[in-house]
Amino acid sequence: MSDPGIVSDPYPVYADLSEREPVHWCEELDAWALLRHSDCAAALIDPRFKAERMGNVLGAKYPGRSLPPDSIYHRFTKNVMMYTDPPLHDALKKSTLPAFTRAAHEHYSRVVESVASELVASVPSGTSELDAVPALAAELPVRAAVRAFGVPEEDLEFVMPRVGTVMTYWSGPQDQPVGLDELLNVLDGLHDYAEELLLGRRGRVVPETVIARLAQNAPDDTDCTPQQTVHQLVLLLIALFAPTTPGSASSGMLAFASNPVQIDRFLSDPACAANAASEVVRYNASNQFTWRVASSAVDVGGVRIEEGQSVALFLGAANRDPRVFERPDSFELDRPNSGKHLSFGAGLHSCLGKQIAALELKWFYTALLARYPRIRLAGEPVWNPNLEFRSLSSLPVSLN
Ligand code: HEM
Repeated sequence: MSDPGIVSDPYPVYADLSEREPVHWCEELDAWALLRHSDCAAALIDPRFKAERMGNVLGAKYPGRSLPPDSIYHRFTKNVMMYTDPPLHDALKKSTLPAFTRAAHEHYSRVVESVASELVASVPSGTSELDAVPALAAELPVRAAVRAFGVPEEDLEFVMPRVGTVMTYWSGPQDQPVGLDELLNVLDGLHDYAEELLLGRRGRVVPETVIARLAQNAPDDTDCTPQQTVHQLVLLLIALFAPTTPGSASSGMLAFASNPVQIDRFLSDPACAANAASEVVRYNASNQFTWRVASSAVDVGGVRIEEGQSVALFLGAANRDPRVFERPDSFELDRPNSGKHLSFGAGLHSCLGKQIAALELKWFYTALLARYPRIRLAGEPVWNPNLEFRSLSSLPVSLN
């Protein structure tokens, strides 16, 4: 599981393990890997599996180092929805919901539609081949971050490399390339930045964006402190510039370019087009696994998981489980149950950005395949060597 060699195609390894040992002790992850859809889906909603885990991660990545409780690391990880459990989790998530209402999403949909069509239109006419990762997949979430989320464009240079450092810590190897002091500096910097943004002291935040809505959401209206709102915004910034959205946008392009029949279906059948985002994220989860910690002994498929042990829920394996999906290794837009994928998690922690991410994918393929219905692979795709956040670094395509 920790061999970078499997990143380009982890699915045969998953299929084999899922048959032989669906609850598998993975030494390198120091965790139980759950591979079946039913086990992952059950674990995501089992309150005995806790999301609070970042204290353990710190100890594993920086052995022998500890931090005082008031360090930015602990203040952040103990006050963001992703790493907390009820009741705190629910209050933190609820405080952000005014930015994620139905009306807000209708507005984001219109914004993202124009972002996607302008992005595809920006490819110079006459271009016959390009690397679709830097030219398109990497650009899509950045443009959406500015126009739908409200990150001031002039601040991208500040935010993006810092998020890159956090992601390297978060999902990088146990043998960390990021020093602990560097990580703390980056977290401090992102918090100062997020606070200034909410107070309107950075660049202009575009009205009706996620950040504008969070800033308007007076702390009195929520059970959260202003500082906790800052922590949620830092988490959103990290999620925005994480490899998940570009990973999905590019793996979907790879799937389409390798399956021209599905392009025809997308263009000719509205039901298939409507299902495309779900099938793209089912076919390749860009967050291949997520983590929980057992708060008491739990039996999963006859295997006893002890209190305090970590569990890695292999969402990417669950999405290819033949017990749930027929012909799981085929990319099929007319699949009746693509929506059963676990790529955005499930239950309390299900992804807050899933609707916007799905809108980005929908409008992106709409614009891309309308202009380039004959898009095909023009060379070997290259995957980043990170299985947890699985994404392409290069995707050569021919357009005509
Ligand atoms: C294709 C793109 C994306 C994928 C595949 C993805 C995947 C996920 C997954 C699997 C989880 C659940 C983690 C768990 O249960 O441990 C999650 C949670 C979350 N995601 Fe996303 N995500 C994407 C985009 C975004 C975006 C654009 C945002 C920005 C708003 C976002 C914000 C969040 C937040 C805040 C949570 C934590 C929710 C909670 O703990 O209650 N995600 N995401």
